[in-house]
Amino acid sequence: MSLIRVHDKTFEPYLTAGQIASAIQSLADQLNLDYAGKKPLFIAVLNGSFMFASDLFKKLTIESEICFIKLASYKGTKSSGHVITVIGLDIDLIHRHLVIIEDIVDTGKTLDQFLPQLQYQQPASLKICALLHKPEATVHPIKIDYLGFTIPNKFVVGYGLDYDGLGRNIPEIYRLTE
Ligand code: IMP
Repeated sequence: MSLIRVHDKTFEPYLTAGQIASAIQSLADQLNLDYAGKKPLFIAVLNGSFMFASDLFKKLTIESEICFIKLASYKGTKSSGHVITVIGLDIDLIHRHLVIIEDIVDTGKTLDQFLPQLQYQQPASLKICALLHKPEATVHPIKIDYLGFTIPNKFVVGYGLDYDGLGRNIPEIYRLTE
């Protein structure tokens, strides 16, 4: 693997497709054990998590469901700041075992705003499964129950993650050189 250009920036190889695949297998092994008989509902957060969710879901051998949602962020009133609305969540969550599938937890702001909306619907349990976590970028601490990789605070692209719309199709993960 060598350097790539996306828009105006240069990225270097960081995680290979093989490393990603084996991390996903380990996550799936754990989920298969923890959720056997619980018929969990996986909630994948679009757009970034589509590739991760697809590969992870293929490795699950237990009875489980998946749905895909989008979070739309808009400026609310001055007092409420950014408000997040959930698009596409049309399944009853009460008494369900929920697992959120995220591509990356960066500042934690997205999940910090989104999780209370799920808790409100009284699920039986609520856990987070993320492929990547940048602990140095944390503003809102989030407990990640199932994690692929802890990474430094550098912008990454590939495997579903984009830089201004591009790079999602790259099968590996690259990181910004500068
Ligand atoms: P948070 O709310 O700051 O945790 O940001 C979460 C979202 O920001 C992720 O779901 C990504 O869509 C996006 N994001 C954060 N860091 C990166 C990155 O390094 N590359 C691409 N997207 C990122």
